[in-house]
Amino acid sequence: MAMKGLLLSGGSGTRLRPLTHSGPKQLIPVANKPVLIYALEDLRKAGITEVGVILGLNGREQVMDRIGDGSAYGVNVSYIDQGAPLGIAHAVACAEDFLADDPFVVYLGDNILRYGIAPLVAEYNKGQCDAVIALQRVSDPERYGVAEVDERGRLIKLVEKPKKPKSDLALVGVYLFTTPIFNAIRQIEPSRRNELEITDAIQRLIDTRYFVKHHVIQGWWKDTGMPEDILEVNRLLLDDLVPLVQGTVEEGAILKGRVSIGKESVLKHGCTVFGPTIIGENCTIDAGTYIGPYTSIGDNTHVSEAHIEDSIVIGESVITCRETIVESLIGDKTQIRSTDQKLPKGHRLIVGSGSSIDL
Ligand code: G1P
Repeated sequence: MAMKGLLLSGGSGTRLRPLTHSGPKQLIPVANKPVLIYALEDLRKAGITEVGVILGLNGREQVMDRIGDGSAYGVNVSYIDQGAPLGIAHAVACAEDFLADDPFVVYLGDNILRYGIAPLVAEYNKGQCDAVIALQRVSDPERYGVAEVDERGRLIKLVEKPKKPKSDLALVGVYLFTTPIFNAIRQIEPSRRNELEITDAIQRLIDTRYFVKHHVIQGWWKDTGMPEDILEVNRLLLDDLVPLVQGTVEEGAILKGRVSIGKESVLKHGCTVFGPTIIGENCTIDAGTYIGPYTSIGDNTHVSEAHIEDSIVIGESVITCRETIVESLIGDKTQIRSTDQKLPKGHRLIVGSGSSIDL
């Protein structure tokens, strides 16, 4: 039986507005690659080539445009519409026909794991279980599904976002299931947030005596629900950056540390780039500009005289200001300029709904 993958790209992304006005949160790039694509690559690396992609209402076309038939990533993709965001368990139920009788990995498209999902699949392949969940100790368990494990290491209880967590073991957004999960989902009720919670469905499996294994993952894991999380993942990924210069570095441009520069990009004489930093394709970095460390600049971006540090610039942007920009997440097609206007003194802002600006 070949194992399948189910990649979830639904959800509304409210906590990431305004970036999610123009597309789903799973397509926000970190280290210049969308979070969702890391997940797709992890499935492939674990040997999974049949992948169902669950589409929400937000950004369906962008997800389909990006992934296509999956061949660019070595997988065969089928799209499944979830419609309204009624929960992860609902998304799994929507894919029942596609998944049929095969074991499958559910990967939440906003989650990112340093070492991917191969250890989860290996745990399942040891045999005799009906599901495997992944756990990690966290300092803020109330943000997640939380697992209680007894002294003999058996899983006893799973609770979704408990106010008073009984442990610090959070449920990571990757799960391995077999067919009994579908019946379990049919037996649960919507939660307080009106979603069918996968956590409740797994609890149902445990209650009905199915064997759910758990696996505490190694390496970092992040749910990119909030801007701080995205910047943190950007730093973590850039810590592993392999430097590669494909563009042009003019004489007199200073590169320090691990820097990656895409095709057709030009680093002009007199600019400084501190690694780890990644600059995409077709970018121009002018003299007097400082970029990095821990910064990702997306394709087709022009930066002049600014100092940008610990930030993500998604791309297609013009940043020509004599200012220092830190810990920022800058959406695509953005212009940030210095003006020579003397009066009235102040900042002129044309900012979309849900933006956040610290002056
Ligand atoms: C979901 C799950 C939760 C899990 C988390 C991981 O939460 O319901 O149990 O810990 O993903 O990212 P949500 O992102 O829907 O709030």
